[in-house]
Amino acid sequence: MTDSPVVRLEKDGAVGVIIVNYPPVNALGPGVAEGIIDCLNQANNDASIKAMVLMGDGRSFIAGADIRGFGTNRKRLPIGERTYDVMDQSPKPIVAAIHGFALGGGLENAMGCHYRIAVPSAKVGLPEVLIGILPGGGGTQRLPRLAGVQTALEMIVSGRHVPAPEALKLGILDEVLPEGANLRAAAVAYANKIADVRPLPRVRDREAKANPGIFDAMRKSIARRARNQKAPYNCILAVEAATALPFEDGMRREQELFEELVNADEAKALRYAFFAEREVAKLPDLPADVKPRDFTDPAVIGAGTMGGGIAMSFADFGYDVKIMDATQEGLDRGMERIRNNYATSVKRGSLAQDEMERRMARIHPVAGYDDIKDCDVVVEAVFERMDVKKPVFAKLDEVMNPEALLFSNTSALDMDDLASVTKRPDKIAGTHFFSPANVMKLLEVVRPSKASPETLATAMAMGRRIGKISAMAGNTDGFVANRSRAPFNSEMVILLEEGCLPEQVDKVMIDFGYPMGPFAVGDLAGLDIGAEGRKRRAAANPNYRTLPIADKLVELGRFGQKTGAGWYRYEKGDRTPHPDPEVAAIIKQVSAEMGIAQKTFTDTEILRRLLFSSVNEACRILEEGKAYRASDIDVMWLHGFGFPRYRGGLMFWADGIGVRDVYNQIASWHQQYGERWAPSALLRRLAEANTPFREAKPAPFA
Ligand code: 3HC
Repeated sequence: MTDSPVVRLEKDGAVGVIIVNYPPVNALGPGVAEGIIDCLNQANNDASIKAMVLMGDGRSFIAGADIRGFGTNRKRLPIGERTYDVMDQSPKPIVAAIHGFALGGGLENAMGCHYRIAVPSAKVGLPEVLIGILPGGGGTQRLPRLAGVQTALEMIVSGRHVPAPEALKLGILDEVLPEGANLRAAAVAYANKIADVRPLPRVRDREAKANPGIFDAMRKSIARRARNQKAPYNCILAVEAATALPFEDGMRREQELFEELVNADEAKALRYAFFAEREVAKLPDLPADVKPRDFTDPAVIGAGTMGGGIAMSFADFGYDVKIMDATQEGLDRGMERIRNNYATSVKRGSLAQDEMERRMARIHPVAGYDDIKDCDVVVEAVFERMDVKKPVFAKLDEVMNPEALLFSNTSALDMDDLASVTKRPDKIAGTHFFSPANVMKLLEVVRPSKASPETLATAMAMGRRIGKISAMAGNTDGFVANRSRAPFNSEMVILLEEGCLPEQVDKVMIDFGYPMGPFAVGDLAGLDIGAEGRKRRAAANPNYRTLPIADKLVELGRFGQKTGAGWYRYEKGDRTPHPDPEVAAIIKQVSAEMGIAQKTFTDTEILRRLLFSSVNEACRILEEGKAYRASDIDVMWLHGFGFPRYRGGLMFWADGIGVRDVYNQIASWHQQYGERWAPSALLRRLAEANTPFREAKPAPFA
């Protein structure tokens, strides 16, 4: 029996098996809901069918509503005619048979069924909040009834994916099959077993009861992380409605709360981020058939903070990894730091002690190059200076298997220059991790001119395999992430020259949505690092805009948290930044020496001075062909710098202001402040044509 092309009904004895086939993940794309309803009606009208199974073809059950359909005119079925409503009316039982993912509308459909079984690797969840909406297919009304209100609240507000064994314990699933079981056969057997059970167990008929205090407690607990956002709060309101209203009224309330969100800026930005994160994996100018190489035996050179974090990233994702350092002492210290980092996670409760030991056991300190010569991938993370890195690469080239790939965790150095000391420039790329490397999600893959497509594809895949979001960057000073951020970093200090204080700028950026202000971040990273880079750039470029206030702080030994003072002062053993009158005095004095008049700034001026400078640089990066897409730069800002996700990313945010307004402001600052604000040619062209940043056509990747 075949029906619509995306959903079909097959008969298996007395069981009607309804199969969704909408690759790649069975989202509820055009025709899918209608197809399911059609098949349900057919099966209910077929006297030879006693029960039904709902399942997905390919790699998943149903991954949720089709996110591409939101914000378009695509017709949605009204309440009363949706799949869940038809399931509720079904006189015959339906069993959801889950593999892969049952997310969002997928889990909502499963909860509309009378029974749910799954393979052990399946995951279920209601992740709608992550795209700025709430479960709008009854999820907020059924999950509290099925799993209890507290569990539902936690799952819906966090959006987390719950593994099948846990979902069984929570009462979301009725059965998890043994490893290796055939899902379809098991589901058909299950359906035969329950075919005659009456009355049918419907989730909607259960009660959702809770102590009303849990809702305010949840609002309080998310206040910091959910600031400026509406979706998490509407999620709470919808679950609250499940405890206060009859089912049908709760469904209507859910719909109202959903409608408030779906076309709001927050949801638009989060949808954009979702697709940008998938787009960034695509390398349009590489041959379509290029495959990443499999790797099994990674090594990290350098057991400093970065090297240690990189080794942890491999170990966290199941890789045995070798780590070496120039000295035994450095290696011992590095291993100690890794152990301490894991121990902190155990203390915080985010890692189990036995899991920590398993991860530690995967990190193998080794004495020298001889111990890593058979590794297939090496990530170098030694001191960030060309004269230190070059001998390491020359040595690696000499000892490693000629097929091994050699990656460098440089954050700015010329990868072509580094590759030139080897006889395998085709097997060299930059893999720029962000600090702390085991936490930050961004991996910037830097493309030297001679790197082979396979090397680049493998570097990108390596990042994904260790839980990162890999993004390709051209080999330009600072690559893409840091280069686009550099003007922001200068501008924030220049604002001080003109009358701002670090705490004022930090507050503006925290209110905007950053987890920390940029000056506090500077103190965390260490101000001496930036000073090094400025010296190098000033030596290379006589027009380089120096930052005398920042230089003065470093001169005074104020390196940030590590010295107890930087842009802020710190109490011993405490990371809380305290505004420091000494810094205010330094700012005043240096500005006076520079002859700069002090003025006051609005929050909007501060925000735009910082971010517009970076938008302009991002346009230069695109016009030079150092990035594939504006959205790749957004992904880098989201995952490298903590840009608030619900604002989409730097360029998406700038589009919200409008390319012409951005250009006009930059052009006016060009008049006022001189060359550092010269609008890029691409920005001018975009403004002339009123083309949004995210549709900018960059030059071919160079
Ligand atoms: N809608 C549209 N496209 C989707 C989609 C969805 N719900 N889920 C995945 N896709 C697309 C991706 O964009 C990607 O497309 P591409 O190949 O063209 O880039 C492709 O499917 C494969 O996705 P991934 O690369 O993400 O595959 P993974 O295997 O890494 O991950 C996944 C699979 C965990 C299902 C992940 O895709 C995911 O999290 N999807 C979104 C799930 C979600 O948010 N569901 C809720 C939707 S909203 C909803 O249901 C509202 C309802 O309550 C009314």
